Amino acid sequence: MTDELTPETPDEDEQPIKQRKNGLYPGVSDELAENMKSGWADTELRDLQPIEQAPNAARRRAALSARFPGERLVIPAGNLKTRSNDTEYDFRASTEYVYLTGDQTDDSVLVLEPKGDSHEATIYRLPRSNRENGEFWLNGMGELWVGRRHSLSESEALLGVPCKDVRELAAALKEATGPVRVVRGHDADIEAALTDKVTAERDEELRVYLSEARVVKDAFEIGELQKAVDSTVRGFEDVVKVLDKAEATSERYIEGTFFLRARVEGNDVGYGSICAAGPHATTLHWVRNNGEVRSGDLLLLDAGVETTTLYTADVTRTLPINGRYTDFQRKIYDAVYESQEAGIAAVKPGAAFRDFHDASQRVLAEKLVEWGLLDGPVERVLELGLQRRWTLHGTGHMLGLDVHDCAAARTEAYVNGTLEPGVVLTVEPGLYFQADDLTVPEEYRGIGVRIEDDILVTEDGNRNLSDGLPRRSDEIEAWMAGLLGK
Ligand code: GLY
Ligand code: MN
Ligand code: MN
Repeated sequence: MTDELTPETPDEDEQPIKQRKNGLYPGVSDELAENMKSGWADTELRDLQPIEQAPNAARRRAALSARFPGERLVIPAGNLKTRSNDTEYDFRASTEYVYLTGDQTDDSVLVLEPKGDSHEATIYRLPRSNRENGEFWLNGMGELWVGRRHSLSESEALLGVPCKDVRELAAALKEATGPVRVVRGHDADIEAALTDKVTAERDEELRVYLSEARVVKDAFEIGELQKAVDSTVRGFEDVVKVLDKAEATSERYIEGTFFLRARVEGNDVGYGSICAAGPHATTLHWVRNNGEVRSGDLLLLDAGVETTTLYTADVTRTLPINGRYTDFQRKIYDAVYESQEAGIAAVKPGAAFRDFHDASQRVLAEKLVEWGLLDGPVERVLELGLQRRWTLHGTGHMLGLDVHDCAAARTEAYVNGTLEPGVVLTVEPGLYFQADDLTVPEEYRGIGVRIEDDILVTEDGNRNLSDGLPRRSDEIEAWMAGLLGK
């Protein structure tokens, strides 16, 4: 037993080939095996420069180190998940790992090893595939199948962190002594190796710290969030231009159109796009997107591009499918707009996180009383939360690497916390009248409106990162007319 983490340098020939896929490899003759070993060029990349976020990631690791002195900290990126047989879902590295390394490689693990007053970081990851033992072409996770990986020395240059072979890490963790914590939920093998050494409570403290550390964004993160929003704005414009094709097909045309923008300019969508036409807009997370798109109805589009660095936007617009709101649709839309305006105005440094929610909810409660759907006074409605039959959800959340960012933060650090410059959050009030709601007049039924923007808290107020999209009803109509050449 040792309290030093000392993984052996793996003997390449003895390494079990970790099977990711059920290979269907035909028999390989000795001659072919010998032939495949050689004749390959040296493709090692030299003079690589560190990735842009390397210094930010180093600062974050230093803060983490200071919070957990003398403890070994294990932060896995996660593994591929099987979709069926030898097919995997798209991989998305764990937010904690990305935040602390800037890297997104599957099967990697960041380990902070206590050294003196601080820690030494090492990233454990898969090296280049072995050509001598045929791994590179005979194994389903060989580079010939899945693409070239960075060598350990290339990764060191890019990430600014020493890198070692991950295939020895589990055994080394099993052997090592001393206090240790792991971020759970990403890598079953690593967790199994630590099962006798960790507790759920202590691991949760690590997860909570890493959630709270992300509440205030640095300049790099704000830049990435702006990029995510800018791509999202272009994605919304793409959708408006193809509404006629969506009418001829389904909500899927909208989903596919937005996805094209997300994949070309970013990594993916940051969450399943909500392309909710007509009464589907009253289903908060409508992602089936298999409904009809009809002229005269509204389209609630809630979608966000995730950048190649994995920061996501989260934007909603509720659009008249034929380009003009009916008077009744406009009445509801304008009420939500007024509510959002009140919410955005309440986002500033020193304000309570809850303030923008309260400001938005008050406006909606006032409207519901004014329309005769609720008996006043408004104070009583708010006290009893009666407006919530139609407002349904909280008015916003932190935004960053995760769409619902910082979700493990303690109540006092988030929901009961105070806003400070660098916080990015959504303001997204809505009104939703279900199609089967017998407590409202028929004309309300099946209408759902949400308006969602991504707001940065600045030194003296806020900046709407998504103001590249219009919000007011008349501005939406003018914008749509411009895009449609009307
Ligand atoms: N797109 C999910 C949300 O707005 O929170
Ligand atoms: Mn949203
Ligand atoms: Mn949201």
